[in-house]
Amino acid sequence: MASLTVTPGRALSGAITVPGDKSITHRAIILTSLAEGESRLSSYSRGEDCLNTMRAFQALGIRIEEQPDVLHVHGKGFWGLQEAGAPIDCGNSGTGTRLLTGLLAGQDFFTILTGDESIRRRPMGRVVKPLREMGAIIAGRKGGELAPLAITGTRLHGIDYTSPVASAQVKSSLLFAGLFADGVTRFREPRLSRDHTERMFQFFGISLRQEADTLVLQGRPSVGWTGRDIVIPGDFSAAAFFLVGATIVPGSDVTIRNVGINPTRTGLLDVLTAMGAKIQILNRRDQAGEPVADLRVTSASLKGVAVGPERIPQTIDEFPILCVAAAVAEGETTISGAEELRVKESDRIATMSAELRAMGAQITEKPDGMVIRGLGRAGQNGHLNGTTQGRSHGDHRVAMSLAIGGLTAATPTSIEDTGCVDTSFPHFDRTLAALLTGGA
Ligand code: S3P
Repeated sequence: MASLTVTPGRALSGAITVPGDKSITHRAIILTSLAEGESRLSSYSRGEDCLNTMRAFQALGIRIEEQPDVLHVHGKGFWGLQEAGAPIDCGNSGTGTRLLTGLLAGQDFFTILTGDESIRRRPMGRVVKPLREMGAIIAGRKGGELAPLAITGTRLHGIDYTSPVASAQVKSSLLFAGLFADGVTRFREPRLSRDHTERMFQFFGISLRQEADTLVLQGRPSVGWTGRDIVIPGDFSAAAFFLVGATIVPGSDVTIRNVGINPTRTGLLDVLTAMGAKIQILNRRDQAGEPVADLRVTSASLKGVAVGPERIPQTIDEFPILCVAAAVAEGETTISGAEELRVKESDRIATMSAELRAMGAQITEKPDGMVIRGLGRAGQNGHLNGTTQGRSHGDHRVAMSLAIGGLTAATPTSIEDTGCVDTSFPHFDRTLAALLTGGA
């Protein structure tokens, strides 16, 4: 099992790019597979999560040629998917599993979806329940709460659904099901979750309307859509590790090029700025309906901040690395309304609290968040202690966050079981090493 060791003592400097956005890559593979003709996806995510979605569509009869920089997807049109000959393995990906469940519920064939040990623990009832209201026939462990899921494709009908959670996976699962359903699907959520599906529907000309707080989708469109080329923006959630790293390691100056800055994703920018971080947004532009920019970050001393429920959806994947920033800041950071963190790749409230405490942080766990008393003093960031026993808990974002935290320590930090980093950020170690030698 892989491990990762970081040796502190140097600033981070240079210019880098990060992998293509994971959320956007999943959606691009799905919509181009359903398009007529060829699409080329450049700068796509080559993380295992998206490669599993690519393999899923290959198993569903779509020809996809994989090159390191470009994915050629030969879409077969709206009804072009075919039954897979074996169960589909979504690996570690909640997005892949939940989006495919919705999409496949309305096909005219049978599918089994499964994933790794973490996926088989994560709640699937949040999509299975509303999909069953649409007529879906889905069986699974614990009454359909847990994968593997067996989906007997059938004719669905649109519903009016108010989700109890702000979840882009729930929203997108129902939108993909709604696309193949009779009639209209209406969806609303307690707070706006990431809107990549809505933007990509618009990019392909699929008619999805926003009426006040409700998304309205007419199922079974009479005309489909054609393949298009998409340049996938860099993943803000991957950039996040270096935004925090360069902020907390003194003397750092890092530029991250071509990063997606969709406002439903960039809560961390607001939170870090409120804490005192120095981040510049340069060269704003648009790429396939998504805003993109270069981000320049220089080190700064941080102060604690309160992060409440209204900021959770747009910051949801950044809490592990935000905990690191809070742990070295001056003063207290409180995170509340973030119970969703308990059902991510790991229970991130528990795993980050345990691992950062082992590195000297002062953290109190709450059911819906945590209180972090920062180690910083009067205008100066504090330091975590190096550890040789950091554990990822099989969670890529925990692994990368601990590596960044280790850069503030006086001694090296080793983290075990870091193979999971490949789910979202293959070569994270190389990118970090390049910044540490200033030669990126
Ligand atoms: C994602 C949605 C979020 C996020 C995940 C990716 C997506 O999950 O945490 O990493 O691509 O739709 P939830 O929908 O469960 O909040």
